[in-house]
Amino acid sequence: MKTRLRFAPVLAFGLLAGCGSEPAPAPEPVVAAPDAQARAQAAMKDFSERLRGRLREAMTRDGAPAAVDFCQLEAPRIAEQVMAEHGVRLGRVAVPGRNRNPGNVAEGWLQELAVSFQAAVDTGGAPEAQVAVLRESVPPGVELRMARGIRVEAACLMCHGDNIAPEIAARLAEHYPQDRATGFREGDLRGLIWSEVPTNPETTP
Ligand code: HEC
Repeated sequence: MKTRLRFAPVLAFGLLAGCGSEPAPAPEPVVAAPDAQARAQAAMKDFSERLRGRLREAMTRDGAPAAVDFCQLEAPRIAEQVMAEHGVRLGRVAVPGRNRNPGNVAEGWLQELAVSFQAAVDTGGAPEAQVAVLRESVPPGVELRMARGIRVEAACLMCHGDNIAPEIAARLAEHYPQDRATGFREGDLRGLIWSEVPTNPETTP
């Protein structure tokens, strides 16, 4: 059937998107200390790509409702692995008041950035174009902080949109009774991916 052939690529594209991945490559901000910035960027890219790949596998193998469990278990593990490999701290946070996992609430510098990214998106900016690289007013032991906006894509809506299938909604309710990460629309700012590079000249590549 033609319908089926048309649908297949859409589904395949959907599966490429991760539970916390972003579609577009980040613009390259220009600042001093390219080493620290390159490390932050490489780690963030790795994190996104691994989440994408592993979520795609989980959805293909076990189906979308089971992929909810995958996101809960694997997203933090993947973050741990990437942090260890790149020697940075890193994670994802939600825009204020819209988190799923209470551990992903934006605080401090991330809360400030989330507010300003949201303001920029509200006035027409693209979520994925919101990038910040901070070298001033970082705590001792930190060389650089970086964050980038995460855009809501069509593929995210099955778990973050308005019309969530009952079996997915049931899994979400089970794991996240306080879930505030639904009701998003395509093109919204979903949250921030961030990375923090420690001051450590010996590990600079
Ligand atoms: C299969 C369901 C599913 C899909 C599809 C999905 N997510 Fe999620 N998302 C989750 C779950 C579950 C969590 C909570 C993970 C955790 O406990 O750390 C989550 C958490 C997040 C977070 C961390 C902030 C928070 O609220 O906890 C971001 C950011 C995020 N998702 C973005 C996205 C984006 C962007 C897409 C599409 C590219 C997407 N997600 C697709 C299920 C999904």
